[in-house]
Amino acid sequence: MDVQIGVIGFGWMAFYHYKDIIPKDEGVKIVSAFDIDPARLEFAQSLGITPYDKLDAFFKSGINTVLVATPNDKHKEYCIAALNAGMNVICEKPVTLSAEDLKEVIKVSEAAGKLFTVHHNRRKDRDFCIVKKAVEDGLIGKPFFIESRVQGANGIPSDWRRVEEAGGGMVLDWGIHLVDQLLYMVKEPVIQVYSLLKYINYTVDDNIKIFLEFEGGLSAQVEVCTTCFQSLPRWHVLGSDGTLDIKDFACEGSIVRGTVKEVDWSLEAVKTAAGSTRTMRPRPEDTIETLPLPDVKVQWTDYYRNFYAAANGKAELLVKPQEVLRTMQVNDLIFASAKQGKSIECRI
Ligand SMILES: NC(=O)c1ccc[n+]([C@@H]2O[C@H](COP(=O)([O-])OP(=O)(O)OC[C@H]3O[C@@H](n4cnc5c(N)ncnc54)[C@H](O)[C@@H]3O)[C@@H](O)[C@H]2O)c1
Repeated sequence: MDVQIGVIGFGWMAFYHYKDIIPKDEGVKIVSAFDIDPARLEFAQSLGITPYDKLDAFFKSGINTVLVATPNDKHKEYCIAALNAGMNVICEKPVTLSAEDLKEVIKVSEAAGKLFTVHHNRRKDRDFCIVKKAVEDGLIGKPFFIESRVQGANGIPSDWRRVEEAGGGMVLDWGIHLVDQLLYMVKEPVIQVYSLLKYINYTVDDNIKIFLEFEGGLSAQVEVCTTCFQSLPRWHVLGSDGTLDIKDFACEGSIVRGTVKEVDWSLEAVKTAAGSTRTMRPRPEDTIETLPLPDVKVQWTDYYRNFYAAANGKAELLVKPQEVLRTMQVNDLIFASAKQGKSIECRI
C-alpha cells in the first residue's frame, strides 16, 4: 500500500517534509493540503499538491495518512479528527502540550485501529546516533554525565513560537527533541527532574537547562539557548573510561580514553596558569589515547522508510506512542519543576 499523505498546516516544516524528508524512491507522497492561510494553499498548489480549505473534503481527497504540522496547540484536535476520519497519523513534535492530552489521542488511535506516530526525526540525527553507538559499544565505559545542548544567538522566530498559549518556547521546541533522544537511548527510569527556564527576551522560555537523573547513577543535562554567542560542544559525555565530545551537527569530535587506571602521582606537578596542581594538571600524554568517533550512516528519510514499512505491516514504528508518552510525562515535570522551583522525584 502506498502512503498517500494529506498535510494539515502546510507551513515551513511541511514544505521541508515535501522537499527533503520524504524519500523520492519510496511509495510515500504528499497529495493534498489543508490550511487556514490561502497563501500557503496557493504555494502547495504550485507544487502539484491539491489544496483544501474545508476539512471534510480534505479527508476525502484520496489520502490514507495525515501529517499534522500546524502550530503546537492545534495538534491534538487535528490528530483526533484525522484518526476518527480513518487516517493513519503522523504528528509533528511536540505531539501535544501535555501527557494527559496525548493519552486522549492514543486512546482514539487504539479505538480506530490506526497507526499513530510522532515526527521525532532527531532520533535519526547523526550526532545523536554516534553518541548512542559509542555508549552502547562501551567505548567510554559506564557513562555517568551526559551533556546535550544546542545553542544559538538568533532569538526565537517572530511567529507563534513566541506565544505561550500556542505552545511556544524552547522546552516544546528543541527541548522536547533532546529529551526524546535521551529517553530513546537510556532505558532506565527517570527518577528525578529539575529545570531552570529563563525568559530573557520573550514571554516564553528562551534559554533553558534541564537535569535528569536516571536509576543506576546516570545523570543528564539538556540545554537550549537562543541568546548564546559562544557555544559549548553539542555533546560532552563522561564515562568511567573516557570522554566523548561532539562539537556540532557536522560531528567533529573524538573520544579520549585513559590507558592506565592511575597516573603516576609521584611526578612533579606541572606548572600551570592555575598554579601548582596535581589533580588538575594536564593528563600525561602517554596515559591517554584518542579514538575517532564511530562511523554511523543515517539519514532523515529513514523516518518515512520506516513509516512505509510499518503501514505495510513489515516493521514496528520507529517512534511508538508509549515512548512519546514517556517523553511527554518527563516534559510535564520539566514545567512543574520550573514552576515549583525544586526538583521532582518520579519513576518514568
Ligand atoms: N521535527 C522538526 O524538526 C521540526 C522543525 C520545525 C517545526 N516542527 C514542528 O512543525 C510544526 C509546524 O511548524 P512550522 O515551523 O512549519 O510553523 P509554520 O508557522 O511555518 O507553519 C504552520 C502552518 O500551519 C497553518 N495553520 C495555523 N493554524 C492552523 C489551523 N488552525 N488549521 C490549519 N492550519 C493552520 C499555518 O497557516 C502554517 O501554514 C510545529 O509543531 C513545530 O514544532 C518540527
